[in-house]
Amino acid sequence: MNRPKKNLYIKTYGCQMNVYDSEQIALILGRDYDLTDRPEEADLYLINTCSIRRKSEEKVLSLVGRLKGLKNRRPQMLLGVGGCVAQQEGERLLQRAPHLDLVFGAQGIYRLPHLLHQRLESGKAVVDTSFSADLPYISGQVTPGAPKKLVTIMQGCNNYCTYCVVPYVRGPERSRPAAEVINEVQDFLRQGGQEVTLLGQNVNSYGKGLADGLSFPGLLRRLAKLPGLIRLRFTTSHPRDLSDDLICCFAELPPLCDHIHLPVQAGSNHILARMHRGYTREEYLHKVNRLRQICPGISLTTDLIVGFPGETEADFADTLALMREVAFDAAFYFKYSPRPQTAAAALVDQIPEPVKAERLARLRTLQEELSLASNQRLVGQFKEVLVEGLSKQQNQQLCGRLRSNQVVNFDGPQDLIGRMVWVRIEKANLHSLGGHRCQP
Ligand code: 5AD
Ligand code: SF4
Repeated sequence: MNRPKKNLYIKTYGCQMNVYDSEQIALILGRDYDLTDRPEEADLYLINTCSIRRKSEEKVLSLVGRLKGLKNRRPQMLLGVGGCVAQQEGERLLQRAPHLDLVFGAQGIYRLPHLLHQRLESGKAVVDTSFSADLPYISGQVTPGAPKKLVTIMQGCNNYCTYCVVPYVRGPERSRPAAEVINEVQDFLRQGGQEVTLLGQNVNSYGKGLADGLSFPGLLRRLAKLPGLIRLRFTTSHPRDLSDDLICCFAELPPLCDHIHLPVQAGSNHILARMHRGYTREEYLHKVNRLRQICPGISLTTDLIVGFPGETEADFADTLALMREVAFDAAFYFKYSPRPQTAAAALVDQIPEPVKAERLARLRTLQEELSLASNQRLVGQFKEVLVEGLSKQQNQQLCGRLRSNQVVNFDGPQDLIGRMVWVRIEKANLHSLGGHRCQP
């Protein structure tokens, strides 16, 4: 007879890569554990962490502290911290939080069953922050019937942008064999899936070191042919490695959605060089123009950092001017945060906090103006929406995305979840749209 399963609660911080890793954790532990969304019922409570900025790290540490109470009330519950903070801090985390049972790095997730066994056998906390060359990705679906899926195509990063901790916490870049990626996508499509997002820190350099010789555009062309794939997306693209061949895929491949997230980080050549980004403002703008030529109306989103060491008022003005020139449809923006081991953390000309805060506020005002104008241009248009679930804000409304990635909320019956519907866009908000369902 089967043993009853235990409850697993996972709290995920950070990027889509972490969301994917949490799904992998649920699949890896699926034989013994069922996912629960009630932390107070957990037999195993895992926190998948992000260390990209200090603030993300602080959130994790404060949650770990607060969980001491739950751990006291449920002494049999195991508490683990995984992902980037765990990779970075290792043993130090145990010293700060002795009530932890497990600390595992980005790649420790594949050894979790073994680590749990070790913890139970020894009665002592277990730390695993080793890297391994081969990653046994697990194929499967955590939420059966979900219309969209993230699929990791590569891990790690070799770019060493001077502000970024990723190469240290996620290790060197490794691509996943194309056959494995294609199988995972095919399995998902057979179960009725429609939309796939390919994930990697720098998807454009996919394929290096693989025997099958398929480049990223080659992989996209193979996937685009699979029957049933209606929407294909990828993230993140490094502007330096965005080839013309890849840009042409936007015109050539019907499933490839008309949206690209292309983090520019800064608009000044002086700062871009100090960030080690490998492109100039002019090269970035050239690629944007080429994208718009090949795919008119393509939605463009970006990441921006303010207050990088040495950033002058003139450098910052270059960032604002570039934002206006491109007119990004949406952006994520951050104050520069010094990270352990990174080159920029050691630079002497750090920018004072109030200057960073003031620049961030000005940048936010501009981006909000651009985002709203971009959303307003959609009002009155009829658009195809893949219905993903219930709206976060208004629970009785449905929520989905356009091909160009904007979120739309609208009224409709719940059995539309997972289906493609037509919506007339009626209202533009800063981060979403409102609409009415209609016939095409
Ligand atoms: N400080 C601030 N923002 C950062 N990012 C990465 N590292 C840092 C840092 N040290 C931002 C970049 C990146 C996004 C994921 O996070 O904009 O594209
Ligand atoms: Fe970090 Fe740069 Fe790699 Fe992106 S490309 S993960 S910003 S080092």
